[in-house]
Amino acid sequence: MTTIDRTDAERITITPQSPTIGAELGGIDLRTELSDDAIGVVRQALLDWQVLFFRDQHITTEQHLAFARRFGDLEVHPFAPEKPGCPEVLAITHDEASHGYENLWHSDVTWRLEPSLGSVLRLVECPDLGGDTLFADMYAAYEGLPQRIKAEVEGRVARHDFAGFRKRMIGRGATPEQIEEFNATYPNPEHPVIRTHPETGRKAIYVNQAFTQEIVGMDADESAELLDVLYRQASYPEYQVRFTWRPDSIAFWDNRACQHYAVSDYYPQVRRAERVTIIGDAPYYDPAQAPAELPERPFRGVIKRWSDS
Ligand code: SIN
Repeated sequence: MTTIDRTDAERITITPQSPTIGAELGGIDLRTELSDDAIGVVRQALLDWQVLFFRDQHITTEQHLAFARRFGDLEVHPFAPEKPGCPEVLAITHDEASHGYENLWHSDVTWRLEPSLGSVLRLVECPDLGGDTLFADMYAAYEGLPQRIKAEVEGRVARHDFAGFRKRMIGRGATPEQIEEFNATYPNPEHPVIRTHPETGRKAIYVNQAFTQEIVGMDADESAELLDVLYRQASYPEYQVRFTWRPDSIAFWDNRACQHYAVSDYYPQVRRAERVTIIGDAPYYDPAQAPAELPERPFRGVIKRWSDS
């Protein structure tokens, strides 16, 4: 019998987890130094599916960092706790003393001028039950908006802020001088409400409940009403995929195209995760940028509703 050696890129399998968002990648070992071709397959799968899931990856912190670095430079988060000795690894630990608070739809670090391209999260310790993470497709969420809302948000920008982190820092005793220094270092950026994805050219909703403060140039009530409509899009199950973690599962998501919500239903059990965050570019909106060829999909954001029948 002849055995044909396949390359690491050829061994990767891609299994969709919902009609629009999320795919599980198999046949890949993140402990190894992957070839450029294999990284190319992962990158294309990320662009096609927005969030990728990997199972049974018994990797070290070094291997976690090395995999994420293949996609860009890594950030050091200025406010959130880090893994001791590893400034680029965010330690997200919840237990009896600290309930999970990432249960709010968001894209990571949009309070930065150049927010994240993507995040690679590894579950180190899982609760027996609960602690899933949901992801929502912000392309489909945009495509499913009524035409009137699309026209209303066209070309608008919104102000973002690290308000939740500021509140927690004040709660932990940060002085007004320290807070002022953070305010000066991370001034409120304005990002397009709808961003053009720099690699796919597709339009995605880019406001989120955690960090967006207001739509610039609108009356406060009008802005709040419009943001509410945009935020609600993430909450429709038709745009979502839900991931149930096991120890050594990994999720790699594209912060430019999806949002996530960590379900906080496991208190007081322990859930320990480590996140490495890849730095991205300044978001922009360019209606003239032609989208790359769209991946084949049975579903394109238009939800058929009970009220339509
Ligand atoms: C996050 O919000 O980045 C953490 C998500 C999670 O813990 O599942």
